[in-house]
Amino acid sequence: MGLSQTELLLELEQVVQGNLDRHLSVAKEWFPHEYVPWSEGRTFKGVLDGDPWSPDDSPMSEVARSALIVNLLTEDNLPSYHHEIAVLFGREAAWGEWVHRWTAEEGRHGAAIRDYLLVKRAVDPVDLEGARMNHMSQGYANVNRESLLGSLAYVSFQELATRVSHRNTGRVTGDPLCDQLLARIAADENLHMIFYRNLLAAALELDPDQTMQAITDVVTTFEMPGADIQGFQRKAVEMAVAGVYDLRQHRDDVVMPVLRFWKVFDVEGLNADGEAARDELVAFLDRLDVQATRFEDKRDSLKARMAARLE
Ligand SMILES: [Fe+2]
Ligand SMILES: [Fe+2]
Repeated sequence: MGLSQTELLLELEQVVQGNLDRHLSVAKEWFPHEYVPWSEGRTFKGVLDGDPWSPDDSPMSEVARSALIVNLLTEDNLPSYHHEIAVLFGREAAWGEWVHRWTAEEGRHGAAIRDYLLVKRAVDPVDLEGARMNHMSQGYANVNRESLLGSLAYVSFQELATRVSHRNTGRVTGDPLCDQLLARIAADENLHMIFYRNLLAAALELDPDQTMQAITDVVTTFEMPGADIQGFQRKAVEMAVAGVYDLRQHRDDVVMPVLRFWKVFDVEGLNADGEAARDELVAFLDRLDVQATRFEDKRDSLKARMAARLE
């Protein structure tokens, strides 16, 4: 019988405290307002009788707009994420301090990206607000709610996935200022990933079998937190084709580095359930590798066809 949820929370309390202290010592203070070129903004049509938005207001590509919208809507659901982790981690002592600090840091991300997009007129502000209302009204439910280990595994991958997505979105915008803002946000996501990754590493030592099963469950069912954004599938395909976030990056740059950090392939002394979970994980990663290659091949031939058409 593995440790209970309460036992895990108590056992990990010291690790949370240590990593919270570490986080606070390395996290750099930054100010979202400094990243937004306010003087480029113009009043919009509506109450203040400004200019209507037009797609010609910004030279940004369709895929860059899609990626920014997905990333922003994902950040926008912060109240739901806060609820989920506050319920799971509690609001006391080191766990609670992390919950609030993390929420405060994440709060900058959506605010900064929205300010940026509106000042630069990069997206339709009415559509954006509609999408935000729609997305937040659905809320976000943590599918690993019953499992502290599953939740810690999920957020380890998710924070890194978000980092990769922000970073590559910055690049495809072709806008150095936007790239700079998203790189700043991506640096926060990286520190969040490190926090959760270290916690799960400690859990893997405390209860390797249960933790291995949680890791396998999460990796084999992983979905991005914004997966229920309206029109997500189409945008996700666009983003994958543009190399903002594709299966190869998911496997090689998000899942594998974290698994290697945890040394999941080298853990010894697992019981039958733990070994079975690891076997399932390895088989899944092999299939993911095949799928990623297949996608890359398809994308290459699509690009070759498009290039031929332009000649
Ligand atoms: Fe964020
Ligand atoms: Fe984050």
